[in-house]
Amino acid sequence: ESEYFIAPSIIAGEKENYEDKIRKVEREGVEMIHLDVMDGKFVPNTTFLADTIKRLRRVTVLPFDAHLMIENPLAHIDEYIDARCDVITVHAEACNEDEFVQIQDRCLAAGISPGIAINPKTDIPEWLYPHISNVDVVIVMSVNPGFAGQKFMPEVLPKMVAVNKKLREHGFKGYIEADGGIDSTTLPQVYDAGARIFVAGNAVYGNVDVHTAVIQLRHKAAV
Ligand code: DX5
Ligand code: ZN
Repeated sequence: ESEYFIAPSIIAGEKENYEDKIRKVEREGVEMIHLDVMDGKFVPNTTFLADTIKRLRRVTVLPFDAHLMIENPLAHIDEYIDARCDVITVHAEACNEDEFVQIQDRCLAAGISPGIAINPKTDIPEWLYPHISNVDVVIVMSVNPGFAGQKFMPEVLPKMVAVNKKLREHGFKGYIEADGGIDSTTLPQVYDAGARIFVAGNAVYGNVDVHTAVIQLRHKAAV
C-alpha cells in the first residue's frame, strides 16, 4: 500500500493570497488542498470560514480537505457542505457522540468524506469506535492546533502507531492524516507510524521554493 497524499496548508508562509498559493501547488501535482478553518474560540487564532472556501472552490478542482478548528461544528456543518469541501474533519474535543453522528450522516448524504481530528494530548474517544467504519480520515495532530510553522512533537509517533492499530481492529478503512510540523525529516517518521495523508504548511510555503519543496516531500514518501 503505497498510495499517499500531499496536502499543502495554505495558511502557512507569507500573507500572499490563497488563490496564488493554490495555483502554485496545483502546478506541482499535489493531491489535495488542506484548509485550516479557525474561529478564534476553539483555537487562539482566526483564519477563514466557509465563505472563503466557497470563493476558493472556483480556483481548482483539487480535493478540498477542510480541517475545522471551531467550536460547535454541528451548528456550522451545512456551511462547509455547501462550500463543497471533499473531506470535512471536525475535532473530537469539540463534539459529543450524538453531534458527531449527525455531522457524519450529513456529510455522507452529501457525498463528502467525514473526518475526525485529535489534539496531541487527546485519545480517540470510546464513542467513536461504533462509527469508525464510516470515517474516511483521522487527523492525528502533531502540534497543538492554532498556527502553522510549529515544531513537530515526536511523542505523537508511538501514539499514531497505537491509534492506527486500534482503529483498524475496529474496522477503520480510511486514512491517517499527519498534521503539524511535517517536513522531509518528519514525513518518513509519520509514514512509518501509519499516516498516508501529509499536511505540509511551512515545508511548502516557507522559505524554500514550492517546486523543490514538493519534490523533496515526494522523494521522502516514496522510499
Ligand atoms: C495547525 C494546522 C496545521 C498547520 C500545518 O493548527 O492545523 O494544518 O497549518 O502547518 P505546518 O506544516 O507549518 O505545521
Ligand atoms: Zn490542519
